Amino acid sequence: MILVLIVSTLSCNPPTPSEEFKATPYELQIPKYFPTLLNIPDDNPMTVEGVKLGRYLFYDGRLRGYSGDNPDSLMSCATCHIQEYGFECGLDHPKYTDGHPYGIKGKHTTHSMLPLINLVFNNKGYFWNGSVYNEHPNPQMRNIEDIVLMAIVAEDEMFSTPERAVKTIENISIYPPMFKAAFGTEEVTIERIQKAIAQFMRTLISGNSKFDRYIRGIEQLSPDELAGFVLFTTEEGADCFHCHGSDGNLLMTTNDFYNNALDSVFTNLQDRYSVTQNPSDIGAFRAPTLRNIEVTAPYMFDGRFKTLDEVIDFYSEGLHYTPYVHPLMHKIADGGAMLTPRQKRQLKAFLLSLTDHEFLNNPEFSKPDNLP
Ligand code: HEC
Ligand code: HEC
Repeated sequence: MILVLIVSTLSCNPPTPSEEFKATPYELQIPKYFPTLLNIPDDNPMTVEGVKLGRYLFYDGRLRGYSGDNPDSLMSCATCHIQEYGFECGLDHPKYTDGHPYGIKGKHTTHSMLPLINLVFNNKGYFWNGSVYNEHPNPQMRNIEDIVLMAIVAEDEMFSTPERAVKTIENISIYPPMFKAAFGTEEVTIERIQKAIAQFMRTLISGNSKFDRYIRGIEQLSPDELAGFVLFTTEEGADCFHCHGSDGNLLMTTNDFYNNALDSVFTNLQDRYSVTQNPSDIGAFRAPTLRNIEVTAPYMFDGRFKTLDEVIDFYSEGLHYTPYVHPLMHKIADGGAMLTPRQKRQLKAFLLSLTDHEFLNNPEFSKPDNLP
């Protein structure tokens, strides 16, 4: 994703809604045993009307800018972020056959996709390298609101401008009343578009996989899944849990950044080091959540692995030693966890138990019927 710095003059003041205006507060349903620290900016409280508007905008392909030779070509957030693939683009996307997307103008994104799952619990930084975080000195690099604008304007994504996005949306008759319901007046502003889509993003909570039901004591894991869980959470086993959670962290990630021994030469210039300038972050990226990992192939920041078997083989015997490898990669001296074929099968069975079909099919997250 290209980070575009928007001059602050663009953020003109939206009109003040009338005194009586009150949208309906949106009650986030936090699954049992999930963290309760939420990343919601004070100036964008979630409302039912705001979330609804955000869902429409997320799925509206008219929000794109450039349309090349074909004025009918559309691109929305959901062109790349597809619900059934955990809001990634998947391997059988009609355009992104390598799982590595490109924008409306044909320019590839720097990294492969990230899922849009449980973003509201991430307080450490968004994107593969965490370059968007709450304390960022630039107020336009702090939260999901800012990512929305980046995606709308980035050349490798929707390649529009704030003015064009506003003009397009205010001329579509369904929208002004929805803006009024969400924000008190019909006025369409880029800030309101950002806020509404960010509100919708924060509702994308996944907490009902088979593994969750096991943790809540209402469903059993199969013997293989259970053995895989033990491998996942023990240092003698596959030792995955330090970075991908699960010892009391059901997000299946710490949302922290690690060099997980993928490479011996580091060529991607947008790694964690590019954000912190700390040499120990060379080649480090965020450990993504393993929820719904079954459907979010391809894997890693560059999408190099197409299957979970390839990922497991990598952690088992494919690690590359460099001085930058994170100390929590305890198996580095052996080149990996050295799993037997049976253990690999069990670990995979456990990873598959993290698929949350309710989330992937939830109609509240799907495309509204009356959009083109
Ligand atoms: C061309 C494909 C494409 C489109 C269109 C697109 N995205 Fe993304 N999105 C990506 C990729 C690739 C990443 C990972 C970028 C990175 O970290 O370098 C990403 C990352 C994100 C993230 C960060 C997730 C995380 O956990 O850090 C959010 C949030 C997001 N996109 C929201 C949106 C929204 C909202 C829109 C529409 C306004 C949108 N995206 C449009 C490809 C796309
Ligand atoms: C030291 C921390 C660490 C440990 C230990 C670790 N991982 Fe990871 N994992 C990461 C990081 C960081 C990434 C992303 C790396 C990248 O793309 O460069 C990742 C990526 C992945 C991915 C791909 C995610 C995606 O959406 O692309 C899977 C699957 C995965 N790990 C599974 C495991 C399994 C299984 C284990 C145990 C055998 C494990 N990890 C151990 C840090 C770790």
